[in-house]
Amino acid sequence: MPVKTPGSGGDARSFYKLGNEYYEKGDFDRAIENYNRAVEMDPAYDKAYYNRGLAYACKEDYDRAISDINKVIELKPEFAEAYHVLGLAYEYKNMPDQAIEAYQKALKINPNFKDAQNRLDLTIAKKEKMEKERTTTGPPTASGGLKETKIEEGQIKEVAFLEKPKMNFTQVAGMEWLKEIIRKYIVYPFVNPKLAEKYGMKAGGGVMLYGPPGCGKTYIAKATAGECQANFINAKISDIVDMYAGNTEKNLHKVFVSARENTPSIIFFDEMEALGGKREGEQQQHMKMAVNQMLAEMDGVETSTENVLVMGATNMPWDVDPALRRSGRFGTMVYIPPPDWKSRVAIFQLECKNRPLARIAWNRLGMATIGYSSADIKQVVKEAAMIPWEVEFKTGKGRTITTGDFIKVMKQRKSTLPPWYQLVEKEIVGKKETQYIDGKPHVTEKPSKLSPEEQETYKDLIKEIKRGNRFYWKWYKSLVKYIALYLPVPF
Ligand SMILES: Nc1ncnc2c1ncn2[C@@H]1O[C@H](COP(=O)(O)OP(=O)(O)OP(=O)(O)O)[C@@H](O)[C@H]1O
Ligand SMILES: [Mg+2]
Repeated sequence: MPVKTPGSGGDARSFYKLGNEYYEKGDFDRAIENYNRAVEMDPAYDKAYYNRGLAYACKEDYDRAISDINKVIELKPEFAEAYHVLGLAYEYKNMPDQAIEAYQKALKINPNFKDAQNRLDLTIAKKEKMEKERTTTGPPTASGGLKETKIEEGQIKEVAFLEKPKMNFTQVAGMEWLKEIIRKYIVYPFVNPKLAEKYGMKAGGGVMLYGPPGCGKTYIAKATAGECQANFINAKISDIVDMYAGNTEKNLHKVFVSARENTPSIIFFDEMEALGGKREGEQQQHMKMAVNQMLAEMDGVETSTENVLVMGATNMPWDVDPALRRSGRFGTMVYIPPPDWKSRVAIFQLECKNRPLARIAWNRLGMATIGYSSADIKQVVKEAAMIPWEVEFKTGKGRTITTGDFIKVMKQRKSTLPPWYQLVEKEIVGKKETQYIDGKPHVTEKPSKLSPEEQETYKDLIKEIKRGNRFYWKWYKSLVKYIALYLPVPF
């Protein structure tokens, strides 16, 4: 959606608000233009200076950021948060002394300012570490007194992330319909982007896989890279996010650089919800910058001709930072549901490939595991194999794994997915809850936290949840399970 411009009569506040809209979208140049107009009209507009400072920081123009934040401090000397941001900017510039001073000032104004305290502790620790290094490795090189941008703490090793694809869709059991979707949306445009463009299909861009845990998001992403014959960069967000200011962005940048140097490549960001999500205070500011960096890097990928695809995966797509979701950078959302009956049978067969087996009633196994995740099925196979294994270990007498072994395990080991679906239902579908007060039922409706448009994005998942709640479906599931687990096995 294009951003509306205020008319010629626009006031400072309108420009400020417009600046914020651009900021949210990651368009910092336009954001700054609008903040400029706002402060031209109202030279004492502290909020506009503040946000302009943040926008400059996102552009890595820390000098201007510092100048704006100093202006905020001049206008609002008791504003502790400004000192805190100032400290962050100095950290980015690798000027720990000034950062420490700024955090101390923030704490003087507000002694309970936890974020400032945390950063102060971290910066002091970092400074000590750098000084120790300097005394052991030689004289300082930077004009600021300490070694120039050598914040190695927690940085990722890019080589460790780059993988040659070892697998493809042949190792993905079942899920044929999903493979077709992925081929259509990801593989074909990737393999032949010119042809895709000829028909107006957009090659590249971001694709987000979402769905319950253990159902193959990571596994399928890897196989997709294999199908595309692309290098695969597995970048777990939890490994990228770093507590040191600036490192998260650097790590992200490294990932993208490594992708560009190894084209064709697919960057896979796992656990996307770890970027953004429910964070507060300083962490939120950190994440905002990281998210902005991600948006900027993705823009770079989109506008270049290099063959780089970005994929993400998450169990909680609605917790992914709204700026990333709204930007359309992850335009294609693909729901990875638990495996269907055919896929479950295929996963069983794949997992049993190298194990000693009796004649197995595969269809029974598929039926009994209705509602199980792929990871649950793997676990069932492992535990079933343990039964004869343990016997052979103890007695020396071997036997094969039987259908009965599987059934025994499946009676004990239930699906791990219901808690996830319950949580999701509460969060995105909305739920009616009945409470009994003085014996009378009181129904309260908990609305979904998603807007109707967002609900549309997750329609496949919502459809599945609604189906799961139907009486008919529950009854059908119990019947299928009962038959599979309790009727005698024919052989
Ligand atoms: N279609 C499949 N065929 C064969 N094995 C599968 C399939 N889907 C998943 N698996 C197996 O299930 C395991 C769990 O899958 P994976 O780790 O990809 O789940 P996930 O959706 O990424 O889970 P999480 O959300 O917890 O990260 C994998 O190790 C893989 O071996
Ligand atoms: Mg995973």
